[in-house]
Amino acid sequence: PRPLRILGIDTSCDDTGVGVVELAPDGRVTVLANRVWSQAVHAQYGGVMPELASREHVERIDQIMGDALHEAGLSVSDIGAVAATSGPGLVGALLVGLMYGKGLAQALNVPFHAAHHLEGHIFAAASEAELRAPFLALVVSGGHTHLFDVPRGGEYVLVGATRDDAAGEAFDKVARLAGLGYPGGPAISEAATRGDPQAVPFKEPLKGQSGFDFSFSGLKTAALLAHRAGATPENLAASFQRAAVQTLVNTTVRAAQATGRSTVVVSGGVAANHALREAFAATGLHVVFPGRGLNTDNGAMIALAGAAAIQAGRPASALDGGATAYAP
Ligand code: KG4
Ligand code: ZN
Repeated sequence: PRPLRILGIDTSCDDTGVGVVELAPDGRVTVLANRVWSQAVHAQYGGVMPELASREHVERIDQIMGDALHEAGLSVSDIGAVAATSGPGLVGALLVGLMYGKGLAQALNVPFHAAHHLEGHIFAAASEAELRAPFLALVVSGGHTHLFDVPRGGEYVLVGATRDDAAGEAFDKVARLAGLGYPGGPAISEAATRGDPQAVPFKEPLKGQSGFDFSFSGLKTAALLAHRAGATPENLAASFQRAAVQTLVNTTVRAAQATGRSTVVVSGGVAANHALREAFAATGLHVVFPGRGLNTDNGAMIALAGAAAIQAGRPASALDGGATAYAP
């Protein structure tokens, strides 16, 4: 048996991501390449323009695939399987990567695997440790704040989610009102190192709930009021980050106790946050984070999800069907 090289594609939003992973015969996975083209055209509009995103993906995807193969030291004929995100995301943007991936798989005569974007975020952590169910998975990004229980491989039970803003969205919005720039997550994290986390007494959202949901809109409003009352950007950043980290960690720890899980995967853009990583490390749970460059949207995480599907013996996906019909 020879190692299988899997090419993964993600074009769900405004990043064109292509990655390559190697699945060894003993089941070990290694990331060989991870290239992401982050579209800059949207900045002037203050948000992602779906039609522009689709067009940019069309223009860039060939080049990004070439770069990824070059980084991996492979030629396209070395690819033994292709995976692409089929949803959720912007439908036009998704279609570009999905159809590109299907076309490539057909041309190479290799299996194609449709991947769920969130399964990709979760399996990004497989770059660091072997992920074997059961475990809990907290996905915290600009669009998602979802807590899943994974009792068996391929089975995802949603145990909690945000009732309003996503965690990353809250970081972005608080950064904007404090004048800290975009993207907000890294800006808040940096400014927080110079602020007092106790300066603004933010309350933990949904404290006392019996479930495992999240809410960030109250923190956002409280941050606006504190800003108007004269809180410095540094103190606002440090205090907001403290409260956001607290609610994410406390809710996840309670869910771990309720389900009896001892392993937790924390992934998505917000998982890059240092304070969040430190707080999770202090819980005593076995916490696995994605490796460098694998937290935010990318293609390697989709290749890793493809590797997990192949290892689990899931059949390849059909080459017909649209972007929103997720078929594992
Ligand atoms: O996963 P991602 O690239 O895109 C989505 O699928 O949404 O996540 C992007 C989000 C942004 O909201 C960004 O502000 C946040 O992740 N983020 C961070 C950090 N780095 C990125 N949030 C907190 N701390 C960070 N260091
Ligand atoms: Zn994402």
